[in-house]
Amino acid sequence: VKINTVILGFGNVGRGFASVLLRKAEYLHKRLDIQLIVLGVVEIGPDGSFHSAFSEHGLDLMKLLETRRKTGTISAYSGAGGHYSSLELIERSGAQLMLEMTPTNLKEGEPGLSHIGAALARGMSVVTSNKGPLLFGFKDLKRLAEDNNVGFGYSAAVAGALPIIPTGCYALAGCQVDSIEGILNGTSNYILTEMTNSGVAMQQALVKAQQMEIAETDPRLDIEGYDTAFKLLISANSIMDADAKISDVKVSGIEHVTQDAIEQTRSRGCMLKLIGRARRTDDHVDMSVGLEEIHPEHPFYSVNGIWKAVKFETDLLGGIVLLGGKSDPELAAGAMLRDIVNLARESRIEGGGRLDKRF
Ligand SMILES: NC(=O)c1ccc[n+]([C@@H]2O[C@H](COP(=O)([O-])OP(=O)(O)OC[C@H]3O[C@@H](n4cnc5c(N)ncnc54)[C@H](OP(=O)(O)O)[C@@H]3O)[C@@H](O)[C@H]2O)c1
Repeated sequence: VKINTVILGFGNVGRGFASVLLRKAEYLHKRLDIQLIVLGVVEIGPDGSFHSAFSEHGLDLMKLLETRRKTGTISAYSGAGGHYSSLELIERSGAQLMLEMTPTNLKEGEPGLSHIGAALARGMSVVTSNKGPLLFGFKDLKRLAEDNNVGFGYSAAVAGALPIIPTGCYALAGCQVDSIEGILNGTSNYILTEMTNSGVAMQQALVKAQQMEIAETDPRLDIEGYDTAFKLLISANSIMDADAKISDVKVSGIEHVTQDAIEQTRSRGCMLKLIGRARRTDDHVDMSVGLEEIHPEHPFYSVNGIWKAVKFETDLLGGIVLLGGKSDPELAAGAMLRDIVNLARESRIEGGGRLDKRF
């Protein structure tokens, strides 16, 4: 199958995706019969306006990456460069698949929300790494995808490589998931590990995390527990049908943890961890994020540093634990490809986006 694709956002994950695709093209074609043809890419250029590259015959990804690296803009791609806006690219391309990798907006989900809505409404399948639209429009976007009979993949937005969504939605098929608990934020876990192992203060550990480029641009999102809460919310809404909002999650973070508290926990043989927890009660799902003392028998006891982990409790398959999910743009790109392959296997990427008759 040939899948005509457009890419919105060509930053770390977007360029990472192009590299992953170059590396995996032959494997995808020979082993899975999937040929992903990138017709167009759009990003915001150095001057703050839209920069694009588009060819109805497909772009050469090596040349695209090279052009971007040498000139700083994809619009310098010879013969196909231009200035289509994101919505114009969706409307003009007639692509079957849109990959949304623009920055996360935690205030209202834009521009990702409009991009995804426009593509789904036009009959395009969508795969995204952007949490913002899922926080504000998850239910509506899911319904739009169903109404238009197209695929919608978002596993890259929830702990990237760690397959929380694919496990919850596919591998646990037939189960009722009664609880999800997880170490879902690598930065706060790294800080707690550094404080425990090296005896450093929180601020020092945070500076190290920032030097490693794993912290959010605004590190309060990591430290105050909100990044964990966002991932927990999206997971519970999609795996446990929670239908909840961020205000339904009780959130506290690691900001007040002292060396004293770490030492006291250690003296009891335990580890302090920031845990996100969603638990099914009779009629709804309770969600919270907060510090917990983890005892040595718990599978999270040795989940240290930048590692993440999640544990599902189910009615049919018992408890399932996953470990992994290092923060890394190429791994996030790999998670996007995972969604594309799964959607293609289910024949959810078919037809083509309806072309806008005006063009
Ligand atoms: N980095 C990771 O490891 C990781 C992991 C999982 C998920 N994610 C998520 O994946 C998304 C992309 O992350 P990233 O690290 O690649 O971010 P990034 O480096 O900031 O890239 C975002 C790209 O989108 C472009 N852009 C901004 N507004 C746009 C618009 N209206 N239309 C088209 N393009 C637009 C940006 O252009 P300008 O830079 O010129 O504004 C840039 O090319 C984010 O939502 C992020 O939270 C990232």
